[in-house]
Amino acid sequence: MNSHPQEPDRSKRVPSAVPTRAAALMVAIFLGLAVFFRADPVGQGPALDAIPPDDPAFASTLPARKARTEMTFDGAPCKSCHEGTEAIQGSPVEKGVFHDKIALKHGRNKHCFNCHHRLQPANFSDFDGSSIKLADVQLLCAKCHGTTFRDWESGAHGRRAGYWDASQGKFKTLVCIACHDPHWPVFKPLRAAAAPHVNPRTRKAAGAPAHGEPAEGGRR
Ligand code: HEC
Ligand code: HEC
Ligand code: HEC
Ligand code: HEC
Repeated sequence: MNSHPQEPDRSKRVPSAVPTRAAALMVAIFLGLAVFFRADPVGQGPALDAIPPDDPAFASTLPARKARTEMTFDGAPCKSCHEGTEAIQGSPVEKGVFHDKIALKHGRNKHCFNCHHRLQPANFSDFDGSSIKLADVQLLCAKCHGTTFRDWESGAHGRRAGYWDASQGKFKTLVCIACHDPHWPVFKPLRAAAAPHVNPRTRKAAGAPAHGEPAEGGRR
C-alpha cells in the first residue's frame, strides 16, 4: 500500500486571480493619488532654492599655495638691501616697516632668525648656523618638526603623487611650503561648498537660522 499522500494536481487548481474590477479600482486609486501629489492642492510647498554653482576652485588639485622658487621681496633679491656681509640688525619681534606685511603667526616660533640666516639673507639657518637653501627648505622645517618631517619622508604627511610601484615610475612629493605658509603655517578655515537641497518644508520646521548661519540645508 502506498503510504505517501497523493500529490495535488497543480494543473487543475483554480488560479487565484485578482478580480478585474478590484484591479481596475486599484489602478484608478493610484492614478488619482499621483495626480493629487503632483498638483499638491493642500501644501503648495515653496519652490526649491537655487543652488549657486560651485566655485571651480573646489575642483582644483593644485596645492594650497605656490611654492616660491627664488628669494625676492617686491621683485628685488634680498641681497639688494641686505648685503650679507653684516648680520641683519633690528629686533626680530618688533619688525620695522619694510616687512610689515609678513604676519608671523607661528606659535612660539616668533623670531625671524630662527629660520632666516643672519649673514645670507636668501638662505635659512640650521642648528649649527650652517645654511639651508630654499630648494632644501624641508630641512629647515625638520629642524623643529622632526616627527612630521619623518612622516613626510615616508609619504604619510603631505600629498604624495606619482607611482607607488617603483618599477612603474617615480613618486612625487610636495615641499612643505607648497602647503604651509612658513610665516603662518596653520591652515585658515576653508570655505564650504553649497549645501544640497532639503525639503523646504522641513527647513521651515528647523526654525530661523542662527546668527550668521544659513538655515538647515538652506542658504542665506
Ligand atoms: C627693499 C629693501 C629690502 C629687501 C629687498 C629685503 N629687505 Fe629685509 N629688511 C629691509 C629693511 C629696511 C629691514 C630692517 C627692518 C625693517 O624695516 O623691517 C629688513 C629686515 C629684515 C629682517 C630682520 C627682521 C627685522 O625686521 O629686523 C629679515 C629676516 C629680512 N629683512 C629678511 C629679508 C629676506 C629673506 C629678503 C628677501 C626675500 C629681504 N629681507 C629683502 C629691507 C629689505
Ligand atoms: C618658520 C621659519 C620662518 C620664520 C620664523 C620667518 N620666516 Fe621669512 N620665510 C621663511 C621661508 C621658508 C621663506 C621662503 C618661502 C616662502 O616665502 O614661501 C620666507 C620668506 C620670507 C621673505 C620673502 C617672501 C615674502 O613673503 O616677502 C621675507 C621678506 C621674509 N621671509 C621675512 C621674514 C621676517 C621679517 C621674519 C620675522 C618677522 C620672518 N621672515 C620669519 C621662513 C621663515
Ligand atoms: C625654530 C623652530 C621651528 C621651525 C624652523 C619651524 N617651526 Fe613650525 N612650529 C614651531 C613652533 C614652536 C610651533 C608652535 C607649536 C605650539 O605653539 O604649540 C610651530 C607650529 C607649526 C605648525 C602648526 C602646528 C599645529 O599643531 O597647529 C605648522 C603647520 C608648522 N609649524 C609648520 C612648519 C613648517 C612648514 C616649517 C618650515 C617652513 C616650520 N614649521 C619651521 C617651530 C618651528
Ligand atoms: C600636501 C600638503 C602638505 C604638505 C606638503 C605638508 N603638509 Fe603639513 N599639514 C598639511 C595639512 C592639511 C595639515 C593639517 C592642518 C590643519 O589641521 O590645520 C598639516 C599639519 C602639519 C603640522 C601640524 C601637526 C600635524 O602633524 O598634524 C605640522 C607641524 C606640519 N604639517 C608640518 C609640515 C612639514 C614640516 C612639512 C614638510 C616636511 C609638511 N607639513 C608638508 C598639509 C601639508
